[in-house]
Amino acid sequence: MILIDGKKAAAELRDELKKEVSSLKDKYNKVPGLTVILIGDLTPSQIYVRNKEKSANEVGLKSEVIKYPDSVEEKTVLDKIQELNQDETVSGILVQLPLPKHIDKQKVIETIDPSKDVDGFHPMNVGNLSSGYESSVPCTPLGCYLLIKKIEPNLNGKKAVIVGRSNLNGKPMTQLLLKENCTVTITHSKTKDLKEECLEADIIVAAVGIPELIKGDWVREGTIVIDVGINKIEKGIVGDVNFDEVSKVAKALTPVPGGVGPMTIACLLKNTIDCFKRSQN
Ligand code: GUN
Repeated sequence: MILIDGKKAAAELRDELKKEVSSLKDKYNKVPGLTVILIGDLTPSQIYVRNKEKSANEVGLKSEVIKYPDSVEEKTVLDKIQELNQDETVSGILVQLPLPKHIDKQKVIETIDPSKDVDGFHPMNVGNLSSGYESSVPCTPLGCYLLIKKIEPNLNGKKAVIVGRSNLNGKPMTQLLLKENCTVTITHSKTKDLKEECLEADIIVAAVGIPELIKGDWVREGTIVIDVGINKIEKGIVGDVNFDEVSKVAKALTPVPGGVGPMTIACLLKNTIDCFKRSQN
């Protein structure tokens, strides 16, 4: 079984990106900039944002975090996004989710200039991705995709089963694998026989948020299994895949933590650099 080392893959990607930033600096005499907006004091969000800032600095990006209290008015945030849209030193804008209830998430996402939307959440990017045009691609599915391609560069005709239909993961993951000529099945909470579906798969991407849902006898030998889940249970942090069971049958499997997570942040840096490059053309 191949234990997919997301930490190592992310470090390699960051190395490449660092070189790229350095050559962009030589060419344009400026570096890509990432601005993250963080609202409120949720601990997981604070940790994510700190990690994003650290990684951005590591590869040489200009990085800024703008913090607001939970009580901030929606208009203040939207006005700030408009200002960042106009700011030439800002290549990418990310508003950390979740947002407080009084702030309309969709309005926030749609206010970000699609060319600076490093999350790939703007309807314009969602549409472009589904039409197969150039677009920002959400960081987590992009990270999963790069890990899958490392194991299996030719995905032609492979059967992929996506567990979970979220806008963040399941749907964009589907688009990326369709582009690679996979036959993709999207499953979800109302799917009739999830185990049978998974047993058909050459590739399983689990992103449902149900601890250890995917069991050893749901996976046939030779399947690549990508676990996007991060679930806190009594024994600690586990994914959506039963690691002990599935590691005995899968061809390759991502651990939790240390699998998809580190790639997500590296892909955010990649998206920021890609936005910068498109803005220079
Ligand atoms: N919160 C958890 N994951 C994400 C993400 O990928 N993007 C944003 N903006 N917020 C998040």
